[in-house]
Amino acid sequence: MRIRKEIGLTFDDVLLVPKRSTLRSRSAVNTSTFLVRNFPLSIPIVSANMDTVTEARMAISLAQIGGIGIIHRFMSIDKQAEEVTKVKRAESYVVEKPATIDPKTTLQEASERMQAEEIGGLVVVGTQGELIGMLTARDLLLAPDMQAAVEEVMTPRNRLVAAQEGETLDRARLALHSHRIEKLPLVNREGRLVGLITAQDIVKLQQHPQATKDNKGRLRVGVAIGVRSTDIERAKACIEAGADVMVVDVAHGHADYVIEMVQRLKREFPMLPVIAGNVATAEGVQDLVAAGADSVKIGVGAGSTCTTRMVTGAGVPQLTAIADCAQAGRELDVPVIADGGIQTSGDLTKALAAGASSVMLGSQLAGTDESPGATVVRNGRKLKIIRGMASLTANITRKEIERLGEVESDEWEKVVPEGVEAMVDYKGGVTEVLYQLIGGLRSGMSYIGAATISEMWGKAEFIQVTPAGVQESKPHDVSLI
Ligand code: XMP
Repeated sequence: MRIRKEIGLTFDDVLLVPKRSTLRSRSAVNTSTFLVRNFPLSIPIVSANMDTVTEARMAISLAQIGGIGIIHRFMSIDKQAEEVTKVKRAESYVVEKPATIDPKTTLQEASERMQAEEIGGLVVVGTQGELIGMLTARDLLLAPDMQAAVEEVMTPRNRLVAAQEGETLDRARLALHSHRIEKLPLVNREGRLVGLITAQDIVKLQQHPQATKDNKGRLRVGVAIGVRSTDIERAKACIEAGADVMVVDVAHGHADYVIEMVQRLKREFPMLPVIAGNVATAEGVQDLVAAGADSVKIGVGAGSTCTTRMVTGAGVPQLTAIADCAQAGRELDVPVIADGGIQTSGDLTKALAAGASSVMLGSQLAGTDESPGATVVRNGRKLKIIRGMASLTANITRKEIERLGEVESDEWEKVVPEGVEAMVDYKGGVTEVLYQLIGGLRSGMSYIGAATISEMWGKAEFIQVTPAGVQESKPHDVSLI
């Protein structure tokens, strides 16, 4: 029998040793990091690509706060691309395909469209898409004849303020303010409409100064991809919808077919970063990075809904896995993501202190309003469903999506699940949950005397604790209220 390491540690096995700190408050701590090289995040949080955790709603909130969400792949290709589109449309200072109308349309029809699409204005364009005017709700207010044509009441082109394609945010803001207007159409050299900037969208931008944005001011989002040949189509559709990063999502990521998929994705879509995983060893990181991965996800069997270690006997305690993999990542100049097993903000701090650049969360986010999991009430308590993506029902869902049809009952018995279906407490909005987690991280960093995450890698020292130490670390000798 070969023993690779005498001991593997996880979060509860250690504590961070407090160090002299020059930081005067938690607010002096900077939590910014990189998901992959040249892909900054204001907070080191990635929401898990699980179907009870991340769809568009979660991804929008995560990106607004400064993290990122990875849309799961347990849905059709079209649906996944649609979820990406929702995120990319949620907050952008340029509406790329604004709603338009023909100048001969009646005001009645224009009014009905504005109501149906819940928009306050329509850009009037000619047959070649040339900008002719602008119609806003104000133009319709108290109009004496709703059968009149749009062109009779619109603001015509010669009185309309418009800007050229590629207008910067600052110049657009100035134009909107100095002309006291709410909408600024963008035209190309031929005078054709190519976009619209609205005052409302700029206000939204200011509400989330830390948001994770692309160079067009849209929220960034990731997508999970499998390793089948159809997953190339999946990647293509999601990239066309605007996905910013792909995650090759396989339970045992240190495998030839994952390496081949990473190589193929990098060949076919060289502009997009690829995160691969999951692995638990330095060799796993080295092989995936050699294949072209821009980051690697660390964690085998650590997740809250995982039964991999019980079913297969395989895995590495999560803190040791993070430390080994982060070391390999640092040597290759690749950030790594600690995935799974985080139960507290203390665990989050330990995962980052051990070398991770960011942390993927499943169960911590599954109980929030933004997760797609169903809500249930048990004994008067509100709970939300979470399920492992290798659980029995998730396996069946995946087969149904692949086959576009139901799976016969005798096939259920052939599944060997490596995850469970479970419930977590309902927690309200994700913003509050992340506020607590990041608040804990900030305090943790100040105990180490580290102002940044990379400083923490150099300064952090762990001390191993006994079961008595674990007990002492939790409330004791008191009755909890
Ligand atoms: P937490 O602890 O944050 O972990 O809920 C989330 C991570 O767990 C992994 N995951 C699974 N692992 N069987 C597994 O062995 C499963 O069914 C399963 N579902 C999720 C995944 O890496 C996720 O990000």
